[in-house]
Amino acid sequence: MANFLNNLRLYFGVCRRVGSTLTVGMLDEKRRNNLLALYNHYENKDSQQDVTPIDPFILPKTDVFELFGNDNAQYEGVYECGFGHTTEFELKVISNLVKKFDPNSIFEIGTFQGRTTLNMALNTKSNAVITTLDLPSEGLSSTAMEIEEGEIRYVKKDVSGERFIGHPMAQKITQVFGDSATYSFANYQNTIDLAFIDGSHAYEYVINDSKKILSTMRPGGLIIWHDYTNWEGVWTALNELYLSDSRFKNIKHIGGTSIAILQV
Ligand SMILES: C[S@@+](CC[C@H](N)C(=O)[O-])C[C@H]1O[C@@H](n2cnc3c(N)ncnc32)[C@H](O)[C@@H]1O
Repeated sequence: MANFLNNLRLYFGVCRRVGSTLTVGMLDEKRRNNLLALYNHYENKDSQQDVTPIDPFILPKTDVFELFGNDNAQYEGVYECGFGHTTEFELKVISNLVKKFDPNSIFEIGTFQGRTTLNMALNTKSNAVITTLDLPSEGLSSTAMEIEEGEIRYVKKDVSGERFIGHPMAQKITQVFGDSATYSFANYQNTIDLAFIDGSHAYEYVINDSKKILSTMRPGGLIIWHDYTNWEGVWTALNELYLSDSRFKNIKHIGGTSIAILQV
């Protein structure tokens, strides 16, 4: 039943996007190019020629040299990574971005063990405030939207934020709990300098979280997404935002990582 509903949602989602691309979307050069790529893809397939798969990672690329050059950040637990974590390189990239942007306020969606939260805290000034939102295990059965099967294990845990609890950096960190789809961001409007979106990787959640976080950002602030190249829900949502919502037209993918960024 869940599979049938997922397929139905996928079908209507695709219809909606194709419909908009074939009407007002035709005014947009990037969308026309995407349509052409799709047309060529099926043409090639139909004529039994060699098919080059369409690269779903359409976001323009940037790189660490363009963004910050040398490594100036501090780290802790950078090598202790596994499922659900940023890689060593990604954690270093995020830490350097935090160092460079020197934010007063950070908002993270998706605390997990708090490894990235801790490293963001290590790279901020002493009066910075880092708020990190996590879905508590007991909220798993009542999320407003469906989360991915593969991420249930990151929600089910005894302690959220174990990497920073009891650490001196914890004085900068405020933990909040809830479902990002129903959590009220009203008190954060226009207050956040840097946000890290790494909660549910389901398409609807990434769209929800991205739009909600955008409403909290100060002009010039930086949004960071994790897992652009790892989860289909993330790349589908970010590609769509990039192509169809002008507020996201400057999103970039950092080469060699699964990180996407937007300076607002
Ligand atoms: C991949 S982990 C985050 C990893 C962490 N940001 C890091 O860098 O180490 C995903 C986290 O998102 C949380 N999460 C999943 N769905 C959520 C939702 N709807 N609202 C808030 N948090 C959610 C999970 O509980 C989990 O802690």
